[in-house]
Amino acid sequence: MASSQRSARYTAALEFGEQQVARLIEHHPDFFPIYTVQGRWHHGGELWTDWTGGFLAGMMWQFQRRTGSSVWQARAEHYSRLLEHRQHDRNVHDLGFIFLNTYLPWYQLTGDQRLHDVLIQAGRTLAMRFMEKGQYLRSFVAPESLFIDIMMNVPIIYYAANETGDAELRRKADAHCQTTRDTIVRANGSTAHEGIFDLETGKFLKETTHQGLRGDSAWARGLAWSLYGYSKVYALTGDEQWLAVSERNADYWLAHLPADKVPYWDFDADLTQPPPLGAQKESSAGAIAASGLLDLAQQTKSPQKAADYRQTALEMLDALTTPEYLANETPGWEGILKHGVYHTTKNLGVDESVMWGEFFFVEALTKVVLADRGQQ
Ligand code: GLY
Repeated sequence: MASSQRSARYTAALEFGEQQVARLIEHHPDFFPIYTVQGRWHHGGELWTDWTGGFLAGMMWQFQRRTGSSVWQARAEHYSRLLEHRQHDRNVHDLGFIFLNTYLPWYQLTGDQRLHDVLIQAGRTLAMRFMEKGQYLRSFVAPESLFIDIMMNVPIIYYAANETGDAELRRKADAHCQTTRDTIVRANGSTAHEGIFDLETGKFLKETTHQGLRGDSAWARGLAWSLYGYSKVYALTGDEQWLAVSERNADYWLAHLPADKVPYWDFDADLTQPPPLGAQKESSAGAIAASGLLDLAQQTKSPQKAADYRQTALEMLDALTTPEYLANETPGWEGILKHGVYHTTKNLGVDESVMWGEFFFVEALTKVVLADRGQQ
């Protein structure tokens, strides 16, 4: 596809995204949904954990960035402000998701010191999850648990460390990345969702999962979190050992994608079996990985990998902008991207729109459109 044709197609998808988000906030003001039920955001379903507020507000910042719209800026500021108290939230491991997609673009746009202070506090709060025995940031479920998802949040600790020069923050962030790499990132580049540690000795005990097929399987979203997370950490540190992990994840990703480039929910799912445990697509993992691969294509030292990562990201986004995934031809569907999965075994948000899928899809498309315009 020619780049002008691709830009037009991605811009149309983003304009559809703007309409869907505008409709959501008009119908349900100040509401932060996580996943749809039969395409509807408002329902009584369980949250499991409250981690996605930064994605709704973050999409508004992405829309503002692409369009320069003061309406989107005002909405983004309002929805970001509603999250400010979460800078002190010690119950989740998701403060990077919440603040790097909201307060960081807000601060970068305005230079307001108060916003900077919120980012630093969020980094300090997340660092309080550090377990000296084991050398990792504990997940929200238990002290003995490390999640691959935390790789997307540890960047806020690096951000705070870089801005303040606080060596303790840097030590904890580095240790977490190292422990994650050495325990739940496998030699072949795939990842486990969770690692369990002995609280007495700090010794790594086993791979497990909550949202994947098995402890020893490759849950697609977890792999996308790792790929993009290590790439972000490389961007913040310049330390090439983290680039190597991200590339290892990416190489597994590229080698295991199905023909249409949109992953199934777990790379070890038995595709002869029906959804949800078998051949269930997971568009949000595709969107996260596409956004990460676009960055990694700029970071890798290998021209061949750069071309392959970028080409795969574009092919994934091309697939996600067809009506099979984009909800633009699905009347009554309130999300942007269909066929995402939140939590299969709890039966939450399976084959639905999920708020992080919406955000990373919008982020990835925006990167391509802005680059085509010569902006970044
Ligand atoms: N637990 C975060 C996720 O669903 O990826």
